[in-house]
Amino acid sequence: MNVLVVGGAGYIGSHCVRQLIAAGHRPVVIDNLIFGHRPAVGRDIPFYDVNLGDEGAVGRILVDEKIDVVMHFAAFAYVGESVNDPLKYYFNNVVATLQLLRTMLAKGVKKFVFSSTCATYGIPSKMPIVESMPQAPINPYGQTKLDIENALKALAVAHGLSFAAFRYFNAAGAAEDGAIGEDHNPETHLIPLAIDAATGKRPALQVFGTDYPTPDGTCLRDYVHVDDLSRAHIAVFDKLSKPGTGLFYNLGTGTPTSVLEVIRAVEKVTGKKVPYIAAPRRAGDPPALYADSSKAVSELGWKIKYTSIEPIVATAWKWHSTHPNGFGKQ
Ligand SMILES: NC(=O)c1ccc[n+]([C@@H]2O[C@H](COP(=O)([O-])OP(=O)(O)OC[C@H]3O[C@@H](n4cnc5c(N)ncnc54)[C@H](O)[C@@H]3O)[C@@H](O)[C@H]2O)c1
Repeated sequence: MNVLVVGGAGYIGSHCVRQLIAAGHRPVVIDNLIFGHRPAVGRDIPFYDVNLGDEGAVGRILVDEKIDVVMHFAAFAYVGESVNDPLKYYFNNVVATLQLLRTMLAKGVKKFVFSSTCATYGIPSKMPIVESMPQAPINPYGQTKLDIENALKALAVAHGLSFAAFRYFNAAGAAEDGAIGEDHNPETHLIPLAIDAATGKRPALQVFGTDYPTPDGTCLRDYVHVDDLSRAHIAVFDKLSKPGTGLFYNLGTGTPTSVLEVIRAVEKVTGKKVPYIAAPRRAGDPPALYADSSKAVSELGWKIKYTSIEPIVATAWKWHSTHPNGFGKQ
């Protein structure tokens, strides 16, 4: 398949590009590099530095590259910022995505794979989370993703769009060969922050909330390896042949891991102490969030290779230890 990877220079998109090649597909990347990194995408891969909402440019790429399916990773994804500047999030995550979808329909491209999030569930009443549970986001970021999920349902009915929306839990880790990995600026994800605290690149890690009703008092989250995520996106292609198909899948390992367990895994893998300080809980952080991903496992034959935190951290460490400045000059 010729696959347009929108946001393919970002963290998850760039890993998916490599998995697409490994699976025998032909990726084409669009990224405006607002957060992405050009070196994250191989020089031999067609790359377009355009905004996903640019209907003229995107339309030409869809036609010229004979695109069969669009994978859409591009979005703003900082929850706190979405609360303070919701318009920024609605314009990029909703308006530009609707423009992308309109362009696809105009050019007759009707297969779409979308990065959604567990943030669409808000604060669920029970764990693990199954896809049929109510979605009630508690911040604009999660709402923008839910808005697109709803738009996709309507486009499937009206125009025969076939889509899969994947609700990711905490994407983590890096490519096995250490060639690409996570390089967000600002970084808000726990594993890179803990690694940076261990290596002295950042000050002590703040652990937000140590009095949660969890075994060690810290939050429980579901860390899923970025290559495992990527493989699910490819496994769904076969299901998109029938026009009007709409699919929703959680992607997590189902294993709750606490903040302190992540810290311990980082210490074990790096052989260094992670200095940390206990900080108050953050508003809107539920005690536990983890997935029931059995639907993706049974329907897509999704195989989760990384089922526990240490091997995930090991891949992240391989990337960070060989690229201390991320994609910048080493
Ligand atoms: N990282 C996670 O744990 C996680 C969890 C749940 C959902 N998600 C979703 O997965 C997707 C990918 O996340 P990520 O961590 O790889 O993010 P990222 O910021 O690393 O990648 C997003 C990419 O999209 C590009 N982009 C943004 N707006 C664009 C635009 N208007 N036009 C063209 N390119 C644009 C950025 O330059 C960047 O390269 C996002 O949609 C995010 O909401 C991520």
